[in-house]
Amino acid sequence: MPLRCLVLASGRGSNFQALLEASARPQAPFTLKALITDRTPCGAEALAARWQVPAECLPYRDFSTRAAFDETLAHRVRAAAPDLVLCAGFMRVLGPSFFDACPAPLLNIHPSLLPAHRGLHTHRQVLAAGDAFHGASVHWVTRELDGGPLLAQARLAVAPEDTEESLAARVLKLEHALYPQALAYLTEGGWNAPPLTLGWDGEALVPWP
Ligand code: GRF
Repeated sequence: MPLRCLVLASGRGSNFQALLEASARPQAPFTLKALITDRTPCGAEALAARWQVPAECLPYRDFSTRAAFDETLAHRVRAAAPDLVLCAGFMRVLGPSFFDACPAPLLNIHPSLLPAHRGLHTHRQVLAAGDAFHGASVHWVTRELDGGPLLAQARLAVAPEDTEESLAARVLKLEHALYPQALAYLTEGGWNAPPLTLGWDGEALVPWP
């Protein structure tokens, strides 16, 4: 049975689009049942309409406290009862009220080789640190921001001519390949599988898609 996933997104939605396209392939190991955003309008919302995925927005600014937002989001996730929640460019930091009330496991995609460079502006962080390598990580979401166990990573070599913009574009392309591969790996390897490392520049090691 394919994993039934609910997606959380905030903006452009290119990772959501990569997941939508992968979920439409034969033998896809996951389906996307619903989208929840914290902003409207946004690119992810428009994609959901095009792909006929039920979408709901919980506008963050409408909530008086962060805890109220977290509790409502957890309630919506509980009602949808997905096997898995996929954060795909979801820019809201989830607090204790969410984790106390949310029963589903969550994955997130982050544009760095975690545990290096948590938080925002990861491409700038990589250049400032003079790192030779950069990449993307799919990891389990825990109460520690960008600190949960890794499921999969994809790496690239930083070139001398790279800028923040070129790294952003190159890593985003890796992310689009990595997230579906990570889900295929999860369904094949089980939930306790050791982290998958994709080859240089996203060369696939899992025979799907
Ligand atoms: C991605 O780089 C994701 O890793 C980060 O925010 C970006 C979202 O891009 N958390 P998109 O909305 O999926 O295009």
